[in-house]
Amino acid sequence: MLDETKKCRVCGGSEADHLQSLEKTGKRHYWIEKDLCGGCKATVLSLASIKGGTGKTHVTICLARAIAASGKRVLLIDFDLNNSLSFNLLEKETQEKTKRLNIATALNDENNNLCDFALPTRKERISLIASTPYLADLRTLAQNRLKRMIHTLYGHYDIVIIDCPPTYDNIVLNAVSASDYTITPVLNDSFSYNSAHFFAGVLPRDVEGLKAWFVLVNGFGKRFDNAKSGRQNDFQKLYERDFPLTPKETWLPWTTQIHWIVDYDKLLTRAEGNRGMIYNPDLHKAISGLAGCFFDEDLQIPEAF
Ligand SMILES: Nc1ncnc2c1ncn2[C@@H]1O[C@H](COP(=O)(O)OP(=O)(O)O)[C@@H](O)[C@H]1O
Ligand SMILES: [Mg+2]
Repeated sequence: MLDETKKCRVCGGSEADHLQSLEKTGKRHYWIEKDLCGGCKATVLSLASIKGGTGKTHVTICLARAIAASGKRVLLIDFDLNNSLSFNLLEKETQEKTKRLNIATALNDENNNLCDFALPTRKERISLIASTPYLADLRTLAQNRLKRMIHTLYGHYDIVIIDCPPTYDNIVLNAVSASDYTITPVLNDSFSYNSAHFFAGVLPRDVEGLKAWFVLVNGFGKRFDNAKSGRQNDFQKLYERDFPLTPKETWLPWTTQIHWIVDYDKLLTRAEGNRGMIYNPDLHKAISGLAGCFFDEDLQIPEAF
């Protein structure tokens, strides 16, 4: 029996509408909450590690570009006082607006609609809620504030990606608590290992209902994959033994080309011969593979993004 009174609060669709869309699209029909359909919920992903320099911001930017290029609407939240993400993606004129529209003012009042604080970026389909030095004033912010507000983004974005600061405090806990997935990038070094080990201990303790947490290897050289020994091999064994890892095809190669993609805004391509673009099929494959982990359907990521 269909419940005729049931309606999604975002798209307004009834149960009958949703069943019809299942017939049309072949996608599973389900309700996330009693008045929210699966199609309208945004996936929330955090990039977090207490160690700096593991690639959180670069992975955030590359992922956002790949997902947006596939036609999905992306919202980035810059939780790092460092502001790198905001500087990278906002036009100069828009940066002025971040004095008023930023994540600290957004979280200040639980009745705010987060959409009102999102700014357009230089990239199509990527919006951003900027960071601010005033985040430091939110040290007493309740850990679940963002989680309680995140529903205001539903229906407007397909994915929310939160770039966290290299620390462990109530701001990071806000991000992880609101997330469906938390990814900790690691390099092949002992500080990264310790950083992931720390999260493995504290996140299940501190985050009620912690959802999926995975470690992502950043700096995976294919040519060392079959080596019987060596640094990559040593760390891979440790990571595989101690942490839930993202699939191997998502591990990022270490390449200075990432600077061209992020700092000089060059397109990354998997097709040889595209002039002015950065050709790196391994990096393209890793980022596309990672992006695909957060969606039920196959993403149509173009050969250059
Ligand atoms: N896969 C990679 N290959 C080469 N350099 C990388 C890679 N990932 C990150 N880097 C470099 O490492 C540095 C730190 O990256 P960043 O994303 O700022 O880390 P975080 O946000 O975790 O502090 C940057 O200089 C960046 O260019
Ligand atoms: Mg960063």
